[in-house]
Amino acid sequence: MTNDEHVHGGDPERELKRLGLATRDVLDFSVNVSPLGVPSEIKAIWKELLAEVDRYPSVDGQGVARYYQERFDLDPARVLAGNGSTELIYLTPRALELRKVAVITPSFHDYTRSSLAAGADLLEVELKAEEDFTPPGVDILKEVMAEADGLFVGNPNNPTSTVFPRQLLLDLAASFPSKWILVDEAFVQFLDQPEEVSLIRQEPPQENILVFHSLTKFFALPGLRLGAVVGHPNTISRLRPLKEPWSVNRVAEKVALELIKCADYEKRLSKLVCLERPRIFDRLQDISGFQPFEPAANFLLARWTLTDQLDDLLRFMLGSGVHLRDCRNFPGLQDNFFRMAIRQPEENDRVLSLMRSCSDHYL
Ligand SMILES: Cc1ncc(COP(=O)(O)O)c(C=O)c1O
Repeated sequence: MTNDEHVHGGDPERELKRLGLATRDVLDFSVNVSPLGVPSEIKAIWKELLAEVDRYPSVDGQGVARYYQERFDLDPARVLAGNGSTELIYLTPRALELRKVAVITPSFHDYTRSSLAAGADLLEVELKAEEDFTPPGVDILKEVMAEADGLFVGNPNNPTSTVFPRQLLLDLAASFPSKWILVDEAFVQFLDQPEEVSLIRQEPPQENILVFHSLTKFFALPGLRLGAVVGHPNTISRLRPLKEPWSVNRVAEKVALELIKCADYEKRLSKLVCLERPRIFDRLQDISGFQPFEPAANFLLARWTLTDQLDDLLRFMLGSGVHLRDCRNFPGLQDNFFRMAIRQPEENDRVLSLMRSCSDHYL
């Protein structure tokens, strides 16, 4: 696969076509966005938001930056807003002139793509199925850091739904002060105890740690694009001059200010995911043909073992209106791995019951 052939989830039409199925409505479990949908506080002001698109946004996404300052009590100099965290994941290897980047595999493909686009070479650090995709120990990571000038880590990691201990990343940063620890916390708010994992509020901030954060997953706003990179003021001031102006649109800026008021939504969503996550894992463990890996985030990685074709499962599910994420295009996951999002209890029940029927069908 070349750098540009990687396929993301969230495109059920393409998958229906690939599997020779007729177009239909589907429940999309292939993307990991909040099952509660757009917060009602935002829906209530849709019209007002559109009324202002005849004006430019601020040059550097002040509205989104203010969300981070207020929600996480951060000094403005520590925050740079972006058109989703993706913009900042691409800006960073270029701005820091990284020459060799270590990436965890399997993980979000855009760490690789952004590093290659900046002209860097890659070093891969493998998470293994036979070790339940647990993070490598500090010794292995130190060997890797000795070779690279930066390490990209998803925390929690997508698609394995595993967590790197905060102290491990802090130790690495302290051991290699001239190298970069780039931590993608796009899904951190879905964890049981985000504050025990997140480095967004580290005090004092380390100059060589950058944290990428997203508001598109947790608040079900992937089409709006809003996120930030958070770090030491000296590091943020290296990135700021290289970011394009006006990349955060005016609607996103206004929405971000409203998200500060969505504390109730945050509580409801965290509770839902924390209850559903172990329930789905336990139920899936009891269905023949499924090998789930214990999830920490709002999605679960599993392997289909009943036939040697993952398409048997994907076709059965999609033909019944459920889209799963085919993970065979991630390194190390070719052997029939798939990912499913954690959604509302009744939606999860529907998926589990279809999975049981699929298992009965192929047994
Ligand atoms: C691990 C991870 N990080 C970052 C992103 C990008 O998020 P955003 O919508 O903020 O650009 C994604 C999107 O799927 C993701 O899976």
